[in-house]
Amino acid sequence: MRDLVSEMARRITVNGLQIARNGTALLDVPHLTLNGPGPTLILGPNGAGKSLLLRCLHGLIAPDKGYVEQDGVPLNADHKARQAMVFQQPVLLRRSVAANLDFVLKRQGLQRVARKTRIADLLAQGGLEGKARQAARSLSGGEAQRLAILRALALDPDTLFLDEPTSALDPGATQVIERMILRASEGGVRIVMVTHDIGQARRLASDVVMMQGGHVVEHGDARQVLDDPKSDASRRYLAGGLVT
Ligand SMILES: Nc1ncnc2c1ncn2[C@@H]1O[C@H](COP(=O)(O)OP(=O)(O)O)[C@@H](O)[C@H]1O
Ligand SMILES: [Mg+2]
Repeated sequence: MRDLVSEMARRITVNGLQIARNGTALLDVPHLTLNGPGPTLILGPNGAGKSLLLRCLHGLIAPDKGYVEQDGVPLNADHKARQAMVFQQPVLLRRSVAANLDFVLKRQGLQRVARKTRIADLLAQGGLEGKARQAARSLSGGEAQRLAILRALALDPDTLFLDEPTSALDPGATQVIERMILRASEGGVRIVMVTHDIGQARRLASDVVMMQGGHVVEHGDARQVLDDPKSDASRRYLAGGLVT
């Protein structure tokens, strides 16, 4: 069970974040605060630095300069234990669907009976009830991504980071995943998700971070950023997106 403190939306702050490779600045975010109650969507073209920023937020890569904080405390092992990440291509164990979930639950120290109940519960949440014994690697793209999300949710995370989880999926599979994400958000999981899909940002976001060229060009309420963008870069991206 989540305690009262972790029930509250996590305040994620970025301070003076810089990443460079071979003398080229890839990410330069002086300041960013994410504290909305609903999903934060990070939007922008290919190469904008969305994945780099998300990896920094999750603590997967250390920036050259600057740091990430949660609730005013530099990102630490305790925070990392309470968050999970889902990638564009789901990375699944060469085992059954149920065994992929069991692996995570076992590591959390759950006993056998409790694990069984929780697995049934998770499978139902992802509409994978009939698939428990199927080899995870034989799932369709959409099913595999649902399992990857369920496995992340099995950790009972405070924060879930998702990097373009639906960009390889068709609209139907995308819709199912979006419903899972919204349900997790309503259940108190802080969602920070990367997409290049403007429609997806409209459907899911409570706030939008617009990125380009390694910079955050705009951050605000989703409706404001998507319908009345303040920056030229946002306007150009949104205009381009509308004609494709
Ligand atoms: N390990 C790396 N070494 C060199 N360049 C990198 C590395 N990782 C990312 N980049 C570059 O940083 C930029 C931002 O990448 P990324 O965050 O993956 O973009 P996005 O997710 O918005 O498409 C790109 O130009 C990419 O080529
Ligand atoms: Mg990316």
